[in-house]
Amino acid sequence: MRVLVTGGSGRLGRSVLSILADRGHQVTSVDIAPTTPPAGVSALTADLLDSTALQEAFAHAAPEAVIHLAGIAVPFARPDVETLQVNTGLAWAVLAAAIEHRAHSAVAASSPTVYGYNTPSWVPDYLPLDEEHPIRPWHAYGLSKAIIEQTVQALARTTDTCVLSALRPGYVVAPEEWAGAPTQQGHTLAERLADPALAATSLFNYVDARDAAELFALVIEHPERVHHGGIYNAVADDPLAHGPVDATMARLHPTTAPHSTALADGRAVFSNERARTELGWTPTRTWRTQLEGRIG
Ligand SMILES: NC(=O)c1ccc[n+]([C@@H]2O[C@H](COP(=O)([O-])OP(=O)(O)OC[C@H]3O[C@@H](n4cnc5c(N)ncnc54)[C@H](O)[C@@H]3O)[C@@H](O)[C@H]2O)c1
Repeated sequence: MRVLVTGGSGRLGRSVLSILADRGHQVTSVDIAPTTPPAGVSALTADLLDSTALQEAFAHAAPEAVIHLAGIAVPFARPDVETLQVNTGLAWAVLAAAIEHRAHSAVAASSPTVYGYNTPSWVPDYLPLDEEHPIRPWHAYGLSKAIIEQTVQALARTTDTCVLSALRPGYVVAPEEWAGAPTQQGHTLAERLADPALAATSLFNYVDARDAAELFALVIEHPERVHHGGIYNAVADDPLAHGPVDATMARLHPTTAPHSTALADGRAVFSNERARTELGWTPTRTWRTQLEGRIG
């Protein structure tokens, strides 16, 4: 299948390019940052907010499927207005172009931050957090992702030929980060695991970049499984913690205390059940296997 990937130079994008190429797809990556793509992948360097460059990329790739990852990927990394403008503008431009250029499916990266944790006023209705749980974004990045989900659903109302969806990857861990390279927050994975206060900022969620990439691939390979306009959590089965996080959640996020006992059996704070049952996704890489031999 001809696939256009935006943000292919990034942490998640690199795994997406590799997995799509391994599966025999004809892949074009477009990113504002240059990259050396995997063998067989064509890479364009372009700012997708430039409408001429966007149209050229779509004309070049003639995609049957689009995976949209490009954007500002970390909360507070850039000024708030820029984060909102870049992420929401890119999503509309890329997804609308996917429809215009007759792609059969298009999927965008959202984020669990849409739920709105890490503010003292956040009280979950229940745990684990599934896709039915209300979203209450409070920072510009989380709001931009909520708008991206709304963009997916708005554009889904305009087409019945291009299946649109959004995935919410957890804290993405690239292969080199398991091996000790600094993560997006500057610390290593082993440090994040050792200090619950670090992992608690994402409510202990994580996902291996290759597992997340497999889910993006599944979505475009099986549009018949995808709920048009659907949203799916893309997180590992377990929390990034040594053992159950019920007590730690109650201590570090006191407003979750009434519901944290639901996590006493070791389950993650976020549910991936929808992606498992509807899409047939099975994440296979856990911190336990990936950090084996690297932690005490
Ligand atoms: N990393 C995570 O933990 C995480 C978690 C949830 C969701 N996400 C989302 O997944 C996606 C990928 O995340 P990532 O960690 O790979 O981020 P990343 O920053 O490594 O990659 C994003 C890429 O987008 C490119 N980009 C930005 N603006 C662009 C533009 N105008 N035109 C073309 N390319 C542009 C960047 O150059 C970069 O290579 C993002 O949308 C992010 O918000 C990431």
